[in-house]
Amino acid sequence: METKTTHTVDLSNDDRGVMFNPDEEAKAAGWGTDDPYACLAKLYDGPPVLKGALEDLMGIPRQYVSDQWGGDVYSILSFDAVNKAFMDPDTFSNRVYEKMSVTALGDTLLNMDGGKHKRMRNVSKPWFKPSFTDGWWTDKWIVDAVDELFERLMAKDHADLNLELCAPLPMSVVSTGFGIPADEALEFRKALLFHGTREEMIKGHETATRILMRLMTERRAYPQDDLISRFVQADLELEDGSTRKMADDEVMRYCNLIVHAGGGTTWRQLGITIMALLNHPEQMEALRNDRSLMRATIQEVTRWYPTDTAFLRYVEKDTVLEGVEMKEGSVAMLCLGSANHDRTQWEDPDSFNIHRPLKRHFAFGAGPHACLGQHLSRQEMEVALGAVLDRLGDLRWNPDYPTARMSGGTLIGRGPDALHVRYTPVSG
Ligand code: HEM
Repeated sequence: METKTTHTVDLSNDDRGVMFNPDEEAKAAGWGTDDPYACLAKLYDGPPVLKGALEDLMGIPRQYVSDQWGGDVYSILSFDAVNKAFMDPDTFSNRVYEKMSVTALGDTLLNMDGGKHKRMRNVSKPWFKPSFTDGWWTDKWIVDAVDELFERLMAKDHADLNLELCAPLPMSVVSTGFGIPADEALEFRKALLFHGTREEMIKGHETATRILMRLMTERRAYPQDDLISRFVQADLELEDGSTRKMADDEVMRYCNLIVHAGGGTTWRQLGITIMALLNHPEQMEALRNDRSLMRATIQEVTRWYPTDTAFLRYVEKDTVLEGVEMKEGSVAMLCLGSANHDRTQWEDPDSFNIHRPLKRHFAFGAGPHACLGQHLSRQEMEVALGAVLDRLGDLRWNPDYPTARMSGGTLIGRGPDALHVRYTPVSG
């Protein structure tokens, strides 16, 4: 009989770069590290679509777009314009990812379009829907991982929650839920990094492949209650309606994408949430006293400060968006940051306010490529935040450390540099 085990990944300060982009790393990559909202503010009251790369319009170094790509670049800024672009994949396609370093992951959901994308996404859709997330992911992985991390936090009265909770939680949940043992999760995640020399990236790919090939062989022989076992048994629908089992390399690419997409994002977004509440103690108190505000809190923090501010699309055919003509072959930069602060959609959108009514926004994208793991991510954040409120009494910034600040690239990978806090452990 299978025993219920949960293991969390142990991270040290030296591992921060694995999923996080501290300023130094972002600077080394030549990225802008300013606060996106200060740079975007000048665009808020302007046209909804502008010709030009977002970085140039914001006055920051290029992070995404390269001159070598050819074609024009357009920045899509308003809520309505971003919505139209996300919802029209025939005109604004994901083949743009073929131009980006994420292609190191190989052919994945991210760069697929149309029927091929839909059929591939259908394979894993049931395992990321809300009922499976609230059930299997929560009961089997999230609650135990949170408990394990809090056991350590409860043994003291101060911590860096960024390193001791926000980072290890999603990495542990997504890796172990997938079927990668906790003691190999860090090695696997490091192997998927997109930076470093070509040789380092090839070596990393070989390491990830070796680990996954071994696990797939084991799970075929002895299936477990994890995603690898589900993937190797899953049927993929083909164009003609027939089905076949997923091939090894398809499972591997899926796994690489999920582990890559599901770790750093939730880490940083949970960190942003805790930071926002520490900086707005009256809202932390309101949430502590009324947990029905939990969903609204996560919705608000992801609207107010999404960790990734922009995503790209390839313009497949000549089109006109909000009166602006775009030529086939252009690149469209969809700015979630400005769309989520659209003055026509929210009152006082630059302020953080968990009492806003629930309303759709774009932190998790929209349309056919909307984030596959969004329910999982929300659930991890809700369970972790609930434990923070229940178990860390009198939670406050630790005055012995410098004030926490947001770091990372200007457009992507933003989150707090650290979350040094003091608290009184609350048992029971
Ligand atoms: C706060 C956390 C997260 C944020 C802000 C986030 C954001 C996003 C966004 C904006 C997209 C759309 C990209 C595009 O349209 O080009 C996306 C796609 C995706 N995300 Fe997330 N994500 C988060 C967590 C996760 C988690 C936990 C997982 C998996 C376990 C995950 C897996 C994926 C996958 C597989 C895709 C590609 C979907 C497709 O192309 O069909 N994400 N995410």
